[in-house]
Amino acid sequence: MTTTGAKPEGAKDEAGAAQAVQQMFDAIAPRYDLLNHVLSANVDRVWWGRTARRFKAVLADPDAAVLDICCGTGDMTMALLKRRPEGARPLLAADFARGMLSRGARKFGKQDRAEGAAYAVPLEADALHLPLRSESLDLIVSAFGFRNLANYEAGLREFNRVLKPGGQLGILDFSEPGGLLGKAYAVYFRRVLPAIGRAICGKEGPYSYLPASVGNFPPPQEMLSLMQSTGYEQCAWKPYTFGIAGLYAATRALVA
Ligand SMILES: C[S@@+](CC[C@H](N)C(=O)[O-])C[C@H]1O[C@@H](n2cnc3c(N)ncnc32)[C@H](O)[C@@H]1O
Repeated sequence: MTTTGAKPEGAKDEAGAAQAVQQMFDAIAPRYDLLNHVLSANVDRVWWGRTARRFKAVLADPDAAVLDICCGTGDMTMALLKRRPEGARPLLAADFARGMLSRGARKFGKQDRAEGAAYAVPLEADALHLPLRSESLDLIVSAFGFRNLANYEAGLREFNRVLKPGGQLGILDFSEPGGLLGKAYAVYFRRVLPAIGRAICGKEGPYSYLPASVGNFPPPQEMLSLMQSTGYEQCAWKPYTFGIAGLYAATRALVA
């Protein structure tokens, strides 16, 4: 492994990296949804939906304990909720940036859902130190959040701790496609996207950080090896939309 975790500009250590990420998301929270949909031309909705479909069996179980970690403004959570039966055990939706989480809570909270519909409970928490019992969850999903963790191995180990043996993990995140398409996409991702991001949100940092963080993220083979070495089985990566994004899916080994 050459990479350990996210490295926002100027961060000197893991604590500094986590703090920079938290402050950045709090700062862009008011514009986050708008920017997301503009920059991805709404393809993000398809990715969240596909991710939820991958775990439809566990989501259909009303008693399943499910966590959406790094839930942000809650669109992955909403896609997961679509697959929960009425009256199902509430999902947990966790994030450490209060500005993001509070916006999410207005979408997925009990008060904003139809009577009897499944809902999620917001939890302000750090993915690397989850305030949850060991071996208590059936499914953990993270969309576009894992890449921002200050230490990827520590994140996978913490998810492993709270998952039940046989529990499932899904990590949806960006990737860097290869070939000619990859080259064309790199121009969009590294030049056009940061410029649009700056124009809409009026801030320099976050949309330069995005391509840099994807470049710093381990490629699929490396991520899969890391998952295997931290106690997961049946590890697989499914590319979405020519590999611009992709879903890592794995099962927590029966013996940790
Ligand atoms: C790009 S947003 C993704 C939000 C949402 N899941 C989505 O798909 O739109 C990444 C989120 O991860 C959160 N995050 C990053 N590191 C975290 C950590 N260590 N613990 C909890 N949340 C974290 C950020 O606060 C941010 O809300």
